[in-house]
Amino acid sequence: MLRKSLLLLTIIVSGQLAFAQQKQLTTNTGAPVGNNQSSKTAGENGPVLLEDVNLIEKLATFDRERIPERVVHARGVGAHGEFESYGDFSKFTKASLFNSKGKKTPVFVRISTVVHEQGSPETLRDPRGFAVKFYTDQGNYDLVGNNLPVFFIRDAIKFPDMVHAFKPSPVYNKQDQNRVFDFFSNVPEATNMFTYLYQDLGTPANLRQIDGYGVHAFKWVNAQGEVVYVKYKWNSMQGVKSFSAAEAAQMQAKDHSHATADMYENISKGNYPSWELTVQMLKPEDLDKFDFNPLDPTKIWPEDIAPSMAIGKMTLNRVPDNFFETVEQAAFAPATLVPGIEPSEDKLLQGRVFSYMDTQRYRLGGNFQRIAVNAPLVEVNNFNQNGVASNRGTKSDVNYQPSTTQPTFVDDNQYNYSTRKINEETMQRVISKQNNFKQAGDLYRSLSKVEKEHLISNLAGDLGQVKNKEVVNKMVSYFYQADADYGNRLIKALKLNRNDVVALVAAN
Ligand code: HEM
Repeated sequence: MLRKSLLLLTIIVSGQLAFAQQKQLTTNTGAPVGNNQSSKTAGENGPVLLEDVNLIEKLATFDRERIPERVVHARGVGAHGEFESYGDFSKFTKASLFNSKGKKTPVFVRISTVVHEQGSPETLRDPRGFAVKFYTDQGNYDLVGNNLPVFFIRDAIKFPDMVHAFKPSPVYNKQDQNRVFDFFSNVPEATNMFTYLYQDLGTPANLRQIDGYGVHAFKWVNAQGEVVYVKYKWNSMQGVKSFSAAEAAQMQAKDHSHATADMYENISKGNYPSWELTVQMLKPEDLDKFDFNPLDPTKIWPEDIAPSMAIGKMTLNRVPDNFFETVEQAAFAPATLVPGIEPSEDKLLQGRVFSYMDTQRYRLGGNFQRIAVNAPLVEVNNFNQNGVASNRGTKSDVNYQPSTTQPTFVDDNQYNYSTRKINEETMQRVISKQNNFKQAGDLYRSLSKVEKEHLISNLAGDLGQVKNKEVVNKMVSYFYQADADYGNRLIKALKLNRNDVVALVAAN
């Protein structure tokens, strides 16, 4: 007999008495299932009958469990939490999440490695993605950053080639430093990023003890339409802790998911990780005043030109109850913005503003913003409609705007984008103030003796795998231009001919 009512069962869980509700097993359409252990067969030995609809549905659903993994940042861990604003920053931005002291906004955060596939070890050298979704009272705002303050390239048109070079060979299906550095020996603007990545910062000990950076400049716009450029940083309140190459290798041999385990164990124990958010600001009229372009994402803004100001604190306090539904289906995008926050003219960021939602429409479908983890807490009112899995179509005959017969949703010019005068030629050109090496040199000189030793040996380890000497010499000539000691130590570690490297420096 079918048992439709719920049974209350007493079960033993880890030696403790607990009550669990046992519910009737059903098909996807809600029909009760009679036998979920044996397929329906013609006679004891089969064949199996196609009319066993539960069997067919179970296999068909299983066959579709996988979705495409993210084309980059495939491996990650996610958690829910809360952001609290330290004050009222409406002088600078009309974004409501920053408009009063103590204002709390729920967040979802995903921290990831970049290059390697979904099941790859969390110990590998890589930047760590640091993506935060704020569910604000004016819709969602995504701050999609990394744990390192700069990036490899400054123009989105180079991104697919860069990722191809980093990913496994299309022929041998293995990451290959020959391919990586073949590409980067032609990309001197990556020198600053490599000087961060090849420190132990490239192998974090866990994901609670990393900082996060927005990397790009963004525009903050206030209610009067005044613009200020900002760069964001998440400062880990647990401090920053990295593995040396040896420690990372040791951990990898033991556990390839150590960072996920660390994050979930700490949150589950109530040891909630938190980060303080700071911003640096530059006025539009000051952007031309420096020896680098502040909209170039291969550069930091030194504190002496733009001091940091603390604006809030984020705490992660809840492990998602289903990894696939939240962490895997989470869709962060630099285009997910609220009034008062806009992209800067940074050419890398401009490409990102297109790319993320484009890949998400492919990865998760056209209605990806309706998936619970991506849906805003506020009502969504517009006439975008239909598509696969639609559940938000208008229930009225008037699915357009404007209408003379019925009131529809209204737009309000207080939320207009900011304006800017442009009177320039169209062109395809590299920025004029490239200054590819100075900040890398400053960074190198700021390191301790041990940090320098690890940087040199980590870099020499990967460059030492490159067979083409011209590629290695070119790479080292970039580090040499950042700092002669940096270059000389690499020349020594890699047993290069110093004259070959210096000749490339002179030719540059
Ligand atoms: C993920 C493209 C640069 C941080 C992704 C994804 C794409 C992408 C297609 C997968 C998104 C998804 O499937 O949901 C690009 C392009 C870039 C670029 C075209 C340059 C033109 C950057 C930079 C940063 C960054 C500079 C850091 C400041 C991230 C993060 C994720 C991600 C954190 C993972 C988000 C998540 O956890 O789901 N990127 N990216 N990317 N990217 Fe980028």
